[in-house]
Amino acid sequence: MGEFERHSTFFSGFLNSHYLREKDKHIYKKETPLYKFNIIGAGMIGHEHIKATMLEGRATVHGIYDPNQKSVKEALHMIEESFPGHVVHVYDDLKAACEDSDVDGLIICTPNYTHKEIVEEAMKSGKHILLEKPMATTLKDAWIIQQWAESYQNVFQIGLQYRYKALYQEALYEARERNSIGNIKTMMMTEHRLPFLDKVEQWNKFSELSGGTLIEKCCHYFDLLNLFANAKPFSVYATGGNAINFKDFQYEGKKADILDHANVIIIYENGIHASFNLCMFSPLFHEDLTLCGDRGRLYGYENEDFLPYHKPSTHLEVLCGESAPAKITNPCYPETIQNSGHNGGTYYEHRAFVDAIAGEKTKAATPAEGFWSIAVASAADESIQSGKVVNMREFLDRQLS
Ligand SMILES: NC(=O)c1ccc[n+]([C@@H]2O[C@H](COP(=O)([O-])OP(=O)(O)OC[C@H]3O[C@@H](n4cnc5c(N)ncnc54)[C@H](O)[C@@H]3O)[C@@H](O)[C@H]2O)c1
Repeated sequence: MGEFERHSTFFSGFLNSHYLREKDKHIYKKETPLYKFNIIGAGMIGHEHIKATMLEGRATVHGIYDPNQKSVKEALHMIEESFPGHVVHVYDDLKAACEDSDVDGLIICTPNYTHKEIVEEAMKSGKHILLEKPMATTLKDAWIIQQWAESYQNVFQIGLQYRYKALYQEALYEARERNSIGNIKTMMMTEHRLPFLDKVEQWNKFSELSGGTLIEKCCHYFDLLNLFANAKPFSVYATGGNAINFKDFQYEGKKADILDHANVIIIYENGIHASFNLCMFSPLFHEDLTLCGDRGRLYGYENEDFLPYHKPSTHLEVLCGESAPAKITNPCYPETIQNSGHNGGTYYEHRAFVDAIAGEKTKAATPAEGFWSIAVASAADESIQSGKVVNMREFLDRQLS
């Protein structure tokens, strides 16, 4: 069964089934969740994973672990508001959260600098693991986690869920499965957005804690470019700097040190040329993708500009001149899913996680794909530092030896 052709526990919530007592329901009878998950790190994305787990419905949130009491309190409050009566266990330490024998899966949503240590503990449990992106703050640690994950007996999925946004699902279908634009020759992506958000203890303003902007945020776009290219990167050249954001920001005596803009050029081993442009001082959230092939051009965007007039928040067009019909669409999911976080990407990432636990093959990000998203980001950082083109093979040999 495909990832998009599954049961509909979700839709039953919309339908007029309130006249039925639970015991009289047939089609809409609530199934007992098959799996229980613990959430490690109950901050912003932890909340999104709790909601996605409950919305998807085949699993439930059993417990949370977070050393920050404010985060725990806020998560419990959100759960009480969103899922009245649902009780979760609060663990005192990581080991207890990982070892609880009632639990099937662990969702790791902690700051990037904690991932390796937490994965090491989580893996001792043998439970299924969903690890938030980026896998680690350095290329070497990402490599180590990938090696660990390769010999892991259970599911080990990376939280690169942008590939599940409706825009990219449709673009992947057009470009990779339908071959609508023929052989891709060039690719271009943009991310223009507001500065990094407020995080617990502001870890995202410091390269040492986050891995830097290109690893922390742009790994999503490098993952997408790698997917569309369907090849390994051959070389990377980048420029970038810090023009505006957090220039005077200090936290506990440390000065913020992250990039707020960059241009990255990637040449893939199959000859595809790609570029990525980042600007983090734009008054909107906008990302776009342009693919040019030998038969046509695909262009799409997601846009949230906070303006009062209505325009679709996604757009996808495939133009092939006179050789095939043009197509202009607004890819989206049903509203509740679309609004449940990252335009539905997180919901479908959860579906894939549960499918994988049930033994199905999915298209969720693997540890190797997580590694390659960081490899491009790290090479771009190196290129910004050196001003030179980075040959990926030499770079990886040097970094991983
Ligand atoms: N996939 C995505 O689109 C996406 C979006 C946002 C964040 N993320 C990733 O999710 C992770 C968390 O980001 P966030 O935005 O939720 O950050 P956040 O600061 O809002 O929350 C992080 C939480 O982890 C807790 N924490 C810190 N150390 C911990 C530890 N050792 N054990 C357990 N909990 C710990 C903090 O107290 C905090 O409550 C990061 O890796 C980030 O890159 C991914």
